[in-house]
Amino acid sequence: MTVKPVKKAVFPVAGLGTRFLPATKAMPKEMLTVVDKPLIQYAVEEALEAGIEQIIFVTGRGKSALEDHFDVSYELEATMKARGKSMHLIEGIRQKPGSPVYVRQQEPLGLGHAVWCAREIVGDEPFAVLLPDELMVGGFMRQMVEAYNQVGGNVIGALEVPDSETDKYGIISPGQRDGRLTEVLALVEKPKGKAPSNLMIPGRYILQPEVMKILDAQEPGAGGEIQLTDAMAKLIGTQPFHGFTFDGARHDCGDKAGWVQANIALALAREDIGSAVRDYVRALIG
Ligand code: G1P
Repeated sequence: MTVKPVKKAVFPVAGLGTRFLPATKAMPKEMLTVVDKPLIQYAVEEALEAGIEQIIFVTGRGKSALEDHFDVSYELEATMKARGKSMHLIEGIRQKPGSPVYVRQQEPLGLGHAVWCAREIVGDEPFAVLLPDELMVGGFMRQMVEAYNQVGGNVIGALEVPDSETDKYGIISPGQRDGRLTEVLALVEKPKGKAPSNLMIPGRYILQPEVMKILDAQEPGAGGEIQLTDAMAKLIGTQPFHGFTFDGARHDCGDKAGWVQANIALALAREDIGSAVRDYVRALIG
């Protein structure tokens, strides 16, 4: 079996971020920082580390800070150079993603619609999707690409959550498990009532381009939105479809508590500030 390599990644970043108001009134939610880096940069770095070459942002009104973040900041660089300051913290950002492509999602019709907005750039190739409010530590996309290179088809993240949380996510109906890979038998977005399992989709996907054709005609689903999960469900049986369980840490930064926890966890792991934060947290909780 020849498996076409994954070289493109789509980042849906048009969402309004209402869960983080007032922080996100005038700032994209993807620019919220965890310690000193915006969420979007963690996701882009995860993709680049996995060998992705083409970054595609599906953006919208009020998101220009994202474009500026991955661009050259002439004033900043000139000033830093003149002052003899180290450039290493900003240099990598503008160079690594090459020339990102920005497409607009003009209406908030759902994740499926956002991904569909990238169809012309994706073309006839497999592609990755990364949702930046899910912050992964440990190279989730790299591990998924390695698995995909073995099995081909579609590979989506699959992580266990408590039963009480299954109604918040896309849920996998699992078949046979082989190591980290689980066959996907069915998918349901935000199941009401009993979920088929507690295996959720944590915002990481490697998909075949055929899903775009399905999205062309996809009707709204859960929450009245065009759901990527519903379109993916229609691929099952026509192409290999696996869930992949990640060996690493997941932080749900779409949620306030999850975002605070991510800040603490990543701060504690830092060489420069870890011990100061550790001492403070210890003192705080007595
Ligand atoms: C989206 C997807 C869902 C997935 C989740 C991960 O939902 O639709 O399938 O499990 O992201 O965070 P949202 O959080 O946008 O409602």
